[in-house]
Amino acid sequence: MARTDARTLPLDETSTAALAQRALLYRLVDPADPEALRAYSTAEARGFLGEEPTDDEAREFGESIGYRRRIGVYDEAGLDPQVPVATVNSWVGELSVPGDRVTPFWAISGVTVSPARRRRGIARAMLEGELRTAHDAGVAVAGLTVSEATIYGRFGFAPAVEATTWDIDTRRAGWRGGDVPGSFDYVRREEAVALLEDLHERVRVTRPGDVDGWRGRWRQFAMIAGGSKEPGRTRVVRYADAEGVVRGAVVYRLTEDPADMARHTLDITYLVADGDEAYRALWGFVLRHDLVSRVRASLRSVDEPLPWLLADRRGAHVSVHDHEWLRILDVPGALAGRGYAAAGTQVIAVSDPLGFAEGTWMLEIGTDGEARVTPTDATPQVSMPVASLAALYLGGVHAATLRSAGQLTGEDDAVRALSRAFSGDTAPALGIWY
Ligand SMILES: CC(C)(COP(=O)(O)OP(=O)(O)OC[C@H]1O[C@@H](n2cnc3c(N)ncnc32)[C@H](O)[C@@H]1OP(=O)(O)O)[C@@H](O)C(=O)NCCC(=O)NCCS
Repeated sequence: MARTDARTLPLDETSTAALAQRALLYRLVDPADPEALRAYSTAEARGFLGEEPTDDEAREFGESIGYRRRIGVYDEAGLDPQVPVATVNSWVGELSVPGDRVTPFWAISGVTVSPARRRRGIARAMLEGELRTAHDAGVAVAGLTVSEATIYGRFGFAPAVEATTWDIDTRRAGWRGGDVPGSFDYVRREEAVALLEDLHERVRVTRPGDVDGWRGRWRQFAMIAGGSKEPGRTRVVRYADAEGVVRGAVVYRLTEDPADMARHTLDITYLVADGDEAYRALWGFVLRHDLVSRVRASLRSVDEPLPWLLADRRGAHVSVHDHEWLRILDVPGALAGRGYAAAGTQVIAVSDPLGFAEGTWMLEIGTDGEARVTPTDATPQVSMPVASLAALYLGGVHAATLRSAGQLTGEDDAVRALSRAFSGDTAPALGIWY
């Protein structure tokens, strides 16, 4: 099925009216207008407290997200009415879900409101506009990676993918992963883009929560995008297996300890492995790197095999945080879009203040792991707010855990059956921001 081009969809009328009441203009950014694109990039950089882009950087950024629908909110009475006071962009991407498949989802990014216009309901108008537009376009799930965990719950989103951050004292941690056959080679940064793109495409479908990437993301990782700081400190190394097939790559950055050359820090930007051997090979490479005593990595999964490769796992400090948040917009569409680990029938009541997912639903899962979802008048066995359904969607948390936290209700048997059915083979993971 062809994916909807988000750029072709009309602006949401309710949000247009809500912002007009505040004398603000809600507008699609014209992709053919370089001045408007530059102003959009400037506004987004201000919102994320980044450096304001040069003209070239703004042009490059504009091109790299040219496939997205970009919206600006403009204050025509402001000092610089060309620069939006708020931004958001979105597109229909592919989300990997349990059952080794992908489902279309409404990806949202670049949500910013100028610090000079904050807390006047602008983000609410933009976010609700995104959700209505996605729902009207028939997209069942929306998602984003978030700067703060406190913003999106009120719109029905929940953390569906958690991520871990690693700080490893390599001398203490040691290595018990052995050696795997194969070879490592440095890759020129210009050539890393195609390599990362290819590896990510191969691997993303195997892990619920992952999404399709875009060229601009790989250019940033390879430090060849405009505005890259100290690009020469970044290295890209690829791993090929014994047959010479490229199976993985690691992008990292080295920082010297001025007091001791043998104590460099190696920060992993991205490590992608197509298979277990590649995983062990690449971690073995970074953890046994000469002149390096500390390795750091972020956006790793919560069930990383890494502790099992360390001689002393206490040499690694690991912290967990929420990363990707989802919002269910269409219960039958979303639930039928993934596969399940156990057959059975459940009646689930979902409450949704915004109305999209509200209702009581019969979830019938066959022995093939496929689900059929229909509205029903039957008495619900399990009841939950829409955010809890998003938390469960990729199998990142058990229904029983949410019940303990008071975020779902139901009898023991029904909750246990739901936990079993929704579990995936692996914890959901997402190694990039979008
Ligand atoms: C986060 C941000 C977009 C909010 O914009 P805003 O226009 O001030 O938000 P609104 O006025 O529409 O607020 C909507 C609701 O969210 C709440 N809210 C907004 N920002 C919040 C924050 N950072 N933390 C907690 N709650 C927040 C508001 O209190 C309000 O709550 P309520 O309606 O339930 O009472 C804006 O502060 C911003 O650009 N921050 C920096 C960039 C950023 O982090 N963007 C998010 C990227 S994922």
